[in-house]
Amino acid sequence: MNCVRFIFVLSCLWLGDSFASDPDDPLLLVELPQGKLRGRDNGNYYSYESVPYAESPTGELRFEAPKAYKQKWSETYDATQPPVVCLQWDQFTQGDNKLAGEEDCLTVSIYRPKNSSRSSFPVVAHIHGGAFMFGAASQNGHENVMREGKFILVKISYRLGPLGFASTGDSDLPGNYGLKDQRLALQWIKQNIASFGGEPENILLIGHSAGGASVHLQLLREDFAQLAKAAISFSGNALDPWVVQGGARGRAFELGRIVGCGLAADSAVLKKCLKSKTASELVTAVRNFLIFSYVPFAPFSPVIEPSDAQDAFLTQDPREVIESGKFGQVPWAVTYVTEDGGYNAALLLEDWNKSGKTVLEELNDRWFDWAPYLLFYRDSKKTIKEMDDYSRKIRQDYVGNQRFSTGNYWELQQLFTDILFKNSTQDSLDLHRKYGKSPAYAFVYDNPADRGIAQVLTSRRDVNFGTVHGDDYFLIFENVVRDPQLRPDEEIISRNFINMLADFSLSENGILKYGECVFEDNVGSEKFNLLSIDREGCENKKFVEFP
Ligand SMILES: *[C@@H]1O[C@H](CO)[C@@H](O)[C@H](O)[C@H]1NC(C)=O
Ligand SMILES: *[C@@H]1O[C@H](CO)[C@@H](O)[C@H](O)[C@H]1NC(C)=O
Ligand SMILES: *[C@@H]1O[C@H](CO)[C@@H](O)[C@H](O)[C@H]1NC(C)=O
Repeated sequence: MNCVRFIFVLSCLWLGDSFASDPDDPLLLVELPQGKLRGRDNGNYYSYESVPYAESPTGELRFEAPKAYKQKWSETYDATQPPVVCLQWDQFTQGDNKLAGEEDCLTVSIYRPKNSSRSSFPVVAHIHGGAFMFGAASQNGHENVMREGKFILVKISYRLGPLGFASTGDSDLPGNYGLKDQRLALQWIKQNIASFGGEPENILLIGHSAGGASVHLQLLREDFAQLAKAAISFSGNALDPWVVQGGARGRAFELGRIVGCGLAADSAVLKKCLKSKTASELVTAVRNFLIFSYVPFAPFSPVIEPSDAQDAFLTQDPREVIESGKFGQVPWAVTYVTEDGGYNAALLLEDWNKSGKTVLEELNDRWFDWAPYLLFYRDSKKTIKEMDDYSRKIRQDYVGNQRFSTGNYWELQQLFTDILFKNSTQDSLDLHRKYGKSPAYAFVYDNPADRGIAQVLTSRRDVNFGTVHGDDYFLIFENVVRDPQLRPDEEIISRNFINMLADFSLSENGILKYGECVFEDNVGSEKFNLLSIDREGCENKKFVEFP
């Protein structure tokens, strides 16, 4: 034993930073019902990337619920290629052409630590964010997580934008394909993860932003407990106004008009025509749904499907689902950061139409036109008057009679945070505490990154954005939209979060801990129990209303 260890140390010294990958290492080969696949040895972890869980959602399978992958491999499948980006109109691709990715993209990617103190690992399944429009598994780095060596990570790729969410609101084109993909991927993980050393009884599902909202929507399925034992929604939940939206039918027909289907007579005709177009045409059409910059940021998103739709994922308003008590009874945590909406408000500081004015200045004249798109009530108000009254009220409530300027940007950013993230977090938690039976936890994070998503979007360092969307999550999963350099306090927080995930996925009794703090359950509680996490540490607090 000692001898083996000695040789190992020697070979490490010998090779310096690089390492010898043993091609005969049995852990590189995994046997699945489809056949064998070969992963990669990355030194301190193994990876098995781009493993298909569904048939290619192309041709006749476009705009359909995913079909489980049934092909047999005659040769060893090469699982060393990083997951492709699902075809998208990407907010973070510079320039006018924002098209990126491929239509054939339904895979999971699995990362397994090398940790001799365990022969099997709990599993964290990950749904990436990106407004249901963009983002990718590959943009959520796993080096921090693998360094800690505590769990197997599985990243899920799912259809986005029009390909994932176009809907006519009837059974011809019901929508929610991206959510159906996620669910099929979760079923795949449950069935197959043991072959990779994962513990199928210890699966935690997590996601950020649209990924967090997806996690919540998955949990609202009554049989969710069969797929995972716990879940966390970081800065995104099913009640956020940009998640389940109305008006999808109009947008689906508009999409048809843009790509040359004319005025389709009905949904079946429209669907047939949309299937005949190239995927790039359909996704490029997203640019026509943006009124400027990337506004509204989620023109295609989840919908409520008619109850007669085949393979329907969601047929009731999420609020009603929670009130019915018929959802997955597993421990769930929902979170926000103090200025989440900085991600969305930051673009107001951009130049407006190369005019030398900021969008913010222009907003003074266009508030009634733009606010319903910026804040997602365009399709939820019944009349124009109702919409205008609401626009007037929220402006008055947050900035009073002042004109918009960098001087009151902060107040406007608070409006974005409240509407897009925070108030719906409180609503969700409130409903879960009244109607849920399993623990509902919450935390708020306040510790600004030095260079987070708002600074990256605006290239401005002179504005105080506070703690913005992703300032917590990107400490766990490295992301290009924030500075990779972590401060010493962030290193500690990163490790605490990773331990939190590992412990939650293993917990027998649904207990959730961060550092020394044990989360308090909200179910049945009179006040909101919120764990406050910042640079100094953590503290349990109670509130009647979110701070
Ligand atoms: C390995 O797993 C054990 C048990 O979960 C854990 O305590 C340890 O931190 C892990 N990491 C490494 C690098 O050994
Ligand atoms: C943006 O600027 C161009 C050129 O100055 C102008 O033609 C166009 O109408 C402007 N767009 C809007 C939406 O005001
Ligand atoms: C958000 O919630 C707070 C506290 O309940 C409330 O004062 C505020 O008006 C809400 N904001 C909006 C835009 O609904």
